[in-house]
Amino acid sequence: MVSYSYSSSNLLSSFVLCVVLVANAFQCFTSDATSTLMVDGSPNSGRPIPNTFLGAFFEEINHAGAGGLWAELVSNRGRFEGGRGSGSPSSIYPWRVIGNESLISVSTDQTSCFERNKIALRMEVLCNGPKSCPPAGVGVSNPGYWGMNIEKGKKYKLVMYVKVKASGPVDLQVSLTGSVHRVNMVSIISFSAMTDNNFSKWTKVEGILESKATNHNSNLQITTTTRAILWLDQVSLMPLDTYKGHGFRMDLFKMVADLKPKFLRFPGGCFVEGYYLKNGFQWKNTIGAWEQRPGHYGDVWKYWTDDGFGFFEMLQLAEDLGALPIWVFNNGMSVGGEEVNMSALSPFIQDALDGIEFAKGSPSSKWGSVRASMRHPEPFDFRFVAVGNENCFPHHKYFKFYDAIKRAYPEIRIISNCDGSKTPLNHPADLFDFHIYPNNSMDMFSKYSVFDKTSRLGPKVFVSEYAVVKDDARNGTLLAALAEAAFLIGLERNSDIVHMVCYAPLFINKNGRYSWIPDAIAFNSHESYGTPSYWVQQLFSESSGAIYLNSTLQTSSNSIVASAIGYRSSQDSKIYLRVKVVNFGSEIEKLRITINGLSSNVQQSRSTKTVLTSSNKMDENSFSQPNKVVPRKSALENASNNMVVSISPYSVTSFDLLV
Ligand code: AHR
Repeated sequence: MVSYSYSSSNLLSSFVLCVVLVANAFQCFTSDATSTLMVDGSPNSGRPIPNTFLGAFFEEINHAGAGGLWAELVSNRGRFEGGRGSGSPSSIYPWRVIGNESLISVSTDQTSCFERNKIALRMEVLCNGPKSCPPAGVGVSNPGYWGMNIEKGKKYKLVMYVKVKASGPVDLQVSLTGSVHRVNMVSIISFSAMTDNNFSKWTKVEGILESKATNHNSNLQITTTTRAILWLDQVSLMPLDTYKGHGFRMDLFKMVADLKPKFLRFPGGCFVEGYYLKNGFQWKNTIGAWEQRPGHYGDVWKYWTDDGFGFFEMLQLAEDLGALPIWVFNNGMSVGGEEVNMSALSPFIQDALDGIEFAKGSPSSKWGSVRASMRHPEPFDFRFVAVGNENCFPHHKYFKFYDAIKRAYPEIRIISNCDGSKTPLNHPADLFDFHIYPNNSMDMFSKYSVFDKTSRLGPKVFVSEYAVVKDDARNGTLLAALAEAAFLIGLERNSDIVHMVCYAPLFINKNGRYSWIPDAIAFNSHESYGTPSYWVQQLFSESSGAIYLNSTLQTSSNSIVASAIGYRSSQDSKIYLRVKVVNFGSEIEKLRITINGLSSNVQQSRSTKTVLTSSNKMDENSFSQPNKVVPRKSALENASNNMVVSISPYSVTSFDLLV
């Protein structure tokens, strides 16, 4: 384990003025005291870090899924219900009407063919033909989630349900445009809806739109120039180039995949619970044919989701990422303080058991067969469930879930929501969940040792949400990320007990009405970038399954923390030693790294150093400067078993030494 010895010398007396390394950089000083990191690299020292160490947490927050990773382009594709659940007035928002009141009247009614989603959009077209209708027709248009990203040469699959009442043939055109009235039209398909064919009943219309131009702020328009009454429902437009055709937006999928997450926690967070229980995530409403899903209003983060990105898709996402799914289920408690009493708990327990069967049951089981019907007959590699989110349950209720799950699935590992970091839990669990959101970076930096004294006899630790928020975190500053890096080094050091860790939240759609900053990945309709916190996670992506090496840091500085691991690189399959050092102070730190016990020497060739820093500790990334704070890799000229390195102020550095 790392241990510390602090010299008693006066820190200030040992500083000398140094050259400014980066243009407009900090006024930097170098401490002439050299710290030493002694790493024991002997073959039998160290211990394995769990394979599951670093993962990702997907929550439907900030339009992470709806209007984000889930590539569906149409917003409010068929609920037309104002986004507040049944009983509230219907609304076609964000659909807009094309044509004034003398030409078209748009409303909603309850005539849809979808039983769990009865509201349809009704357009009564009052004009008829080129003389009274505008040349481009009248109808409705959908802007997607703050603009659809339509790219030249790409194909988009349209599906919609239409019913028509008219006295003759009705033309129907579907187009992608730069703005209303087909200005900057990028694609169009036409249908002829005849009243004497089956358009007089609900008809599924499908087509492929191929884009002739790029427009990141496009609209989908459905128009006609014929007098008729038309009903629309479940209108979907999906890009064909999603990851493996599974519906995940490519750039966002890749950013998550680059973190090499070994698990995926989902779907929340508070999203699971709902402010009111009725608005929590009810997985059974999110599976099966997308058209049949009722969707729901997530009343904690306050937006509607059509649940196209449902339970199945999240399991699929985990599989595609090569990550183990961790399902957080609703345990009968809500954010708003509802808690079902003992007699009403059974449906929640049954729901959890059914969900597990859906994920891992045989294709002949009741719920496994539903999964199989969604073209996934093989069970998912499903091993973990969490009993609720952020609600340390009265134990007699927790036991009900625990017993029922362990009885049916003894191999499933159960995560409790009670904090066992200071005092042991008084109930059985395989892991306990731990969330930490300090309000400033120094506070997070000091949490480096938070699990040093945690009992080694109880359940393992799952740090399923961590991040600096508020004061100096803003939209995601370098300083906050450095504090998180120090915290992660502390977790690595305690990885005999800390088995899993993931940052929160993962995503933010910057165009949307979002509720939580900072986040790991920011995006709009067509661009994305990582915050410094995202890049810190990448520096830890080799830690899962690596060997944690014993090391000792001798320093008079209270600004640096360090750790060392041995790992096999996924890029060249060679063995490397990675030393990570966080400098949380404003001076350059000199560090001697001494590696003992290696059977071969550190090789200079291919040894590198990767530094995450910037000219100002409050720097952030943005769409205009997405690479302002990103790791920079360079050759490590003086790589050896005994070397002195300079650690930049406000930085995290990863030394990767080929051995
Ligand atoms: O990560 C955002 C929220 O923070 C989560 O939904 C909740 O679990 C926590 O309070």
